[in-house]
Amino acid sequence: MTKEPDSVYDEQKSETIRHFEETFGVLPFWLVVAPARVSLLGEHIDYCDGFVLPIAVNRFVMMAVTPNGTSQANFSSTLFPDSPATIQVDEKLSTGDPAWANYIRGVLDGFREKDLWPLPGFDALIHSTVPVGAGLSSSAALELATATVAESLLGIEIQPKNKALLCQRAEQSFGGVPCGIMDQFITVFAKKDHALLIDCRSQEVQAIPFTDDNIKMIIADTRVRHELSDGAYSNRKKHTQIALSAIGKDSWRDVSFDDLEACKDQISPVVYRRALHIISEISYTQQGALAVARGDMEKLGELMTASHASLRDNYGVSCKELDLMVEAALEIGTAGGVLGSRLTGGGFGGSTVTLARADKVDDIIKSMRDYYQKATGIEPEIFYSPSSDGVWVEEL
Ligand code: GLA
Repeated sequence: MTKEPDSVYDEQKSETIRHFEETFGVLPFWLVVAPARVSLLGEHIDYCDGFVLPIAVNRFVMMAVTPNGTSQANFSSTLFPDSPATIQVDEKLSTGDPAWANYIRGVLDGFREKDLWPLPGFDALIHSTVPVGAGLSSSAALELATATVAESLLGIEIQPKNKALLCQRAEQSFGGVPCGIMDQFITVFAKKDHALLIDCRSQEVQAIPFTDDNIKMIIADTRVRHELSDGAYSNRKKHTQIALSAIGKDSWRDVSFDDLEACKDQISPVVYRRALHIISEISYTQQGALAVARGDMEKLGELMTASHASLRDNYGVSCKELDLMVEAALEIGTAGGVLGSRLTGGGFGGSTVTLARADKVDDIIKSMRDYYQKATGIEPEIFYSPSSDGVWVEEL
């Protein structure tokens, strides 16, 4: 059985505070909470001027913090208990050891670049329920938690959009992934009971109510890990740039299927398929946002399934285990309560998101687990999740 959503938050909060006390011997001043996300539609099109439709979920990176009166920030993470990180908060930062703290260094260095520097020294304890590398955007959650801690220490609030962009730059330059804006934007702008339609060209966001009590989101971690910085992500991005310049347009938003067909002979079959994904995914996301707005969950589910096929066959970012997990959901069918399923996040392993009827959710989870485990021998982590607000800070 999946834990009831509220208890996930409560338990994690008290554990974070307890670990902080054990590590630093005092009580924390603040608790910063940054959610994970799934994207319902709009994969690999945030760097192509597309629309994306993510939603924050109730898995969190929590950071408990207190100032320590020095010029050092001491980070301890329950995920890497043997590798604490010490960072000078009065000098220029670069990547270093332990590598998990590079996202933090990147964000803090963004504050330095903005002349919001030096920071007061502090002690921080990180406790996360977002599996790392599972396509649920654990890095953006860590980045936004760090930025929010820095704001609290300085007693300022950066404009939310600039805060998200600062964190995106940290992911690009210190995390090594030439990512788009989706993850950092949803982590900042998420609103409980809403999906977020992000226009990645204008960088405008629109919260769309997502409140159907009869529907639940099931998140299934295949436990197969990807490494987005290993070149596959930037390789896909490069293909989209080659296609766009062959088509001769400035933005994917102005490209039609006919435009692509017209230059089919000038690009390789692989680049053609990548382009096909971009054009259809932008359209699926626009249709999906409309479906959510009118409460048409069947349509949303159909689009999610179609999107998975495109990510698998045209964009080449799925893998055997993700396909099996989607298959595990789809073979239950609409009669069994499954409306649609797809990989979520960057792909190459990680998680799927499945839209399911609430009254069937426990049976569906069980059936997906059995199917996947039988086929792969891997025990997956599968849970359902309500939506969450974006990053916030609590005074303790
Ligand atoms: C990663 C990136 C995002 C986005 C997704 C794929 O999560 O950080 O910017 O490109 O992959 O949709």
